[in-house]
Amino acid sequence: MYNPYQIVNNIYYVGVNDRHKMFFENMIPLPNGVSYNSYLIVDEKVVLIDTVDTAFCEQFLRQIKEILGNRVVDYVVVDHMEPDHSASLLALIREYPEIQIVGNSKTISMITGFYDICKGFYEVGDGDTLSIGQHQLQFYLTPMVHWPEVMMTYDVTDKILFSADAFGCFGTLDGAVVDAKLQSLDKYWHEMYRYYANIVGKYGSAVQQAFKKLATLSIETIASTHGPIWTSNRLPQVMSVYDKLSRYEGEKGVVVVYGSMYGHTEEMAETVARGIVENGIPVVLHDVSKSHSADILADIFKYKGLIIGSPTYCNGLYPEIASLINKLEVRGVKNRIFGAFGSFTWAGTSVKNLNLFAEKMGWELIGTVEQKQSLSLENSKSLLELCNSMSLSIK
Ligand code: FEO
Repeated sequence: MYNPYQIVNNIYYVGVNDRHKMFFENMIPLPNGVSYNSYLIVDEKVVLIDTVDTAFCEQFLRQIKEILGNRVVDYVVVDHMEPDHSASLLALIREYPEIQIVGNSKTISMITGFYDICKGFYEVGDGDTLSIGQHQLQFYLTPMVHWPEVMMTYDVTDKILFSADAFGCFGTLDGAVVDAKLQSLDKYWHEMYRYYANIVGKYGSAVQQAFKKLATLSIETIASTHGPIWTSNRLPQVMSVYDKLSRYEGEKGVVVVYGSMYGHTEEMAETVARGIVENGIPVVLHDVSKSHSADILADIFKYKGLIIGSPTYCNGLYPEIASLINKLEVRGVKNRIFGAFGSFTWAGTSVKNLNLFAEKMGWELIGTVEQKQSLSLENSKSLLELCNSMSLSIK
């Protein structure tokens, strides 16, 4: 069964849904799956924008042939070389040997390195244009909006921005591909935070540079490599989510993350969560041993306040907390208001280590509480004071 999705006149969606992969990049859970988006522009020349994961190559080619019949694809634009978007290139070349691969110098060198493809390139630079009949395509280099070779393609005629990973999200496209036709968008908003924090998160300044570069374009549709095609009503919200996340502007709310072996640090976490809520501030509470780090990172990117609790373990941090803070450091999360707490049995180092971490990150430290063994009344009050300071800073 195949029934091509026409987005606008002569522009088709030829992407696929992946409901099988458990972990994106072999790390990030995909409870709602993921789509690999590709687009076919049929004009005097036929242009494909990106390809799909190699596991879906046959389905991908079949969709293209269903639309084109005996016509050939003249160009494939590689906006992003990561294999979830480029791994079907070899099969595409086998099917259309005369196809020209459109990319910038970095793309071309990566394609040669990854796939040993050495010819058939059409190199473009920032601001270059390719006329394919009615449609004019303009290319904008947006390096590090995930990888260094990333570029975006703007269709001047239909005002569509093919945005590579930018404005993307996890989640399969169920029954439709355009936002207005999807039954509910709820899962995609949530998945956008998970996607941004885990995939693009480190590159906030690159996203901001891209925003500046694209500021003068009149954009009516955003067609990313993952998730729904966003049209006019939803564009402000999509852009706002990416803008705020890339500025590290957290929303009003506090993430409390803790590790606990025998419940003492957990009791402190419960006290903190209650204290914050009683101040009228939203709280998300994560047991680091239960929540996946991909979900914790998404919440930390979303909210302004962060309070981490760790027991002292082998004279250091609880290993799962150490792993989490490493992930935060790797992503260079900025501008968080931070508090720390922890417990120990015979010698405490966890709170000191969390303070050092906050200092390294350049975050505002609003307080710490350290408990020897089980929670005392005095330290329970200190935790509530920490909550009050956090709440004042957040407000
Ligand atoms: Fe979906 Fe950065 O690749």
